Amino acid sequence: TGGNLTKSWESLRAEAMHCTRCHLHQCATQTVFGEGPLGADIVFVGEQPGDREDLAGRPFVGPAGQLFDRALADAGIDRERTYVTNAVKHFKFERRGKRRIHDKPNAGEIAACRWWIDRELALIRPRITVALGATAAHSLFGRTGTVSTLRGEAHQMPDGTEAWVTVHPSYLLRVRDSRQEEYQKFVEDLRRIGKRSA
Ligand code: URA
Repeated sequence: TGGNLTKSWESLRAEAMHCTRCHLHQCATQTVFGEGPLGADIVFVGEQPGDREDLAGRPFVGPAGQLFDRALADAGIDRERTYVTNAVKHFKFERRGKRRIHDKPNAGEIAACRWWIDRELALIRPRITVALGATAAHSLFGRTGTVSTLRGEAHQMPDGTEAWVTVHPSYLLRVRDSRQEEYQKFVEDLRRIGKRSA
């Protein structure tokens, strides 16, 4: 039942708050677990929490998350149909003075954190799983290709459900020349995913 599902998810999340499967918990403020309705049709997997997410304890609330929200709206995807989580659930960073600069998770950290995504996906059982960027693609599919080779076609999860790969929203914050074009391409990917998950 929905009540049991909610209880299972809540205990999973509570367990994740004390995760020590890799060393990243030592410097991060807290575990940032996935968020969204457990009946979601689509699960989006990002890379790892950023500075803002680490402090808030919630995924995709910083600049990349705001861009992502706008793109979902532009693609006509109802936020209530989506659950968002990350391949790695602790913020990895380097200190530069007072600033904390994002540092990419490595293969060992991604592998250690697979434990949590696997369980989130087993509970939610979405119609479609979407990897946002290379780290998420690596987590879900192993090192089978790059975002550009994997993008634009349907892939399969081990349980046979559909999976897609597209860019990470923070990539759209970094591109210089073709930002509008890249944003539109991202929205088109989301629109297609939204239609297929309906
Ligand atoms: N980038 C991510 O991959 N995940 C977040 O939660 C925020 C930024």
